[in-house]
Amino acid sequence: MAATPLERLVTRLSFAASQAGRVAWYAGHGVAMRRAVKRIDARYDAQYPGKRPQIAKPRGAVPSTRRMLADIAVLLKRDLENVEAGLYPLPADTDGGLSGRLAASRAYFADLPEVARRRRERSHQEARRETGAHKRPRYYQQNFHFQSGGWMTRQSARLYDMQVEVLFNGAADAMRRQVLVPMAKELTGRDQRKLIFADIACGAGSFLAQLRRAFPRLPCLAIDLSEAYLDETRRRVGRTSILKPILAKAEALPLHDGALDLATCIFLFHELPPKIRKLAAAEIGRVIKPGGLFIFVESLQTGDEPDYDGLLELFPQLFHEPYYASYLTTDVAKLFENAGFVLEGTTHAVFAKIMQFRRV
Ligand SMILES: C[S@@+](CC[C@H](N)C(=O)[O-])C[C@H]1O[C@@H](n2cnc3c(N)ncnc32)[C@H](O)[C@@H]1O
Repeated sequence: MAATPLERLVTRLSFAASQAGRVAWYAGHGVAMRRAVKRIDARYDAQYPGKRPQIAKPRGAVPSTRRMLADIAVLLKRDLENVEAGLYPLPADTDGGLSGRLAASRAYFADLPEVARRRRERSHQEARRETGAHKRPRYYQQNFHFQSGGWMTRQSARLYDMQVEVLFNGAADAMRRQVLVPMAKELTGRDQRKLIFADIACGAGSFLAQLRRAFPRLPCLAIDLSEAYLDETRRRVGRTSILKPILAKAEALPLHDGALDLATCIFLFHELPPKIRKLAAAEIGRVIKPGGLFIFVESLQTGDEPDYDGLLELFPQLFHEPYYASYLTTDVAKLFENAGFVLEGTTHAVFAKIMQFRRV
């Protein structure tokens, strides 16, 4: 049944209030974070003159904050249109209300000096000392983003979404939500209960929490190589029989051939070494059944949005991302074509691109 004008107005007002509030909150944190890091750096400069790591000036263009916020506004407009078209529900509060936001903010700023220290000292091997790290592949045992604990600790899992939202000015969840568009089209007229979906490298579960609201009967596998992040996913999504957490590597999935009808992989491939990327793509091709849908979400690559090229050059220097430069020039379409997929479409969502692949 079509919404009445009053229902539409309520939807729009509630969307505008929640999403504009989020962008203001996280973009504001970005401003405060940069100021705090400047102060920390100034103290280091006084103590160790001339020791500041050099950041290479990007050759490409770097978008201004105003430009990024304008692009986020375009994304949010599209997000609202998707809600109004009935593709997914109005976004819920994923931040735990005001108390959740304040607690995350305090934890974020309490941890910031350690992140700044690692960036300053180019220290990214501390994660190797965390409990259980030795059981993980060598490429994984690093402080990606210079974050405390790498992927290994509960503290890291709790802080992760806050850090990502600050990085993306509060647009990360909206970027991930664009995955729900092809999924909604794919699921139309099908019995969700009979399908199997997996989010590969699900992180702290922010996408799964949104997916579960949109498709509450779709059985989901939450796959990640971090116990701490899987625990956080369980906490975020809530205990439910339709969510099954699986501790596994994307390049060695404990699933039989053709086990999945649909799968997503969001912001993983830029963190994999090139050789592992190929293995992971082949493995994803193996576990998705012929005719199945795979949605790949990653950072933009060089040339996708030329106005962002300089930012893509800066990113791995400011945040420890050892494999990002090689990702920027990887032919993703070919990578997955070699794994048995055909590319059906690509859309951009500010810093992200969403590629839809069909298993042949
Ligand atoms: C940048 S985060 C992305 C998380 C999430 N998909 C999101 O949208 O934010 C990368 C995640 O990939 C996981 N990861 C890294 N290498 C992996 C691998 N080889 N197999 C499975 N998970 C991996 C990490 O534990 C972490 O949770």
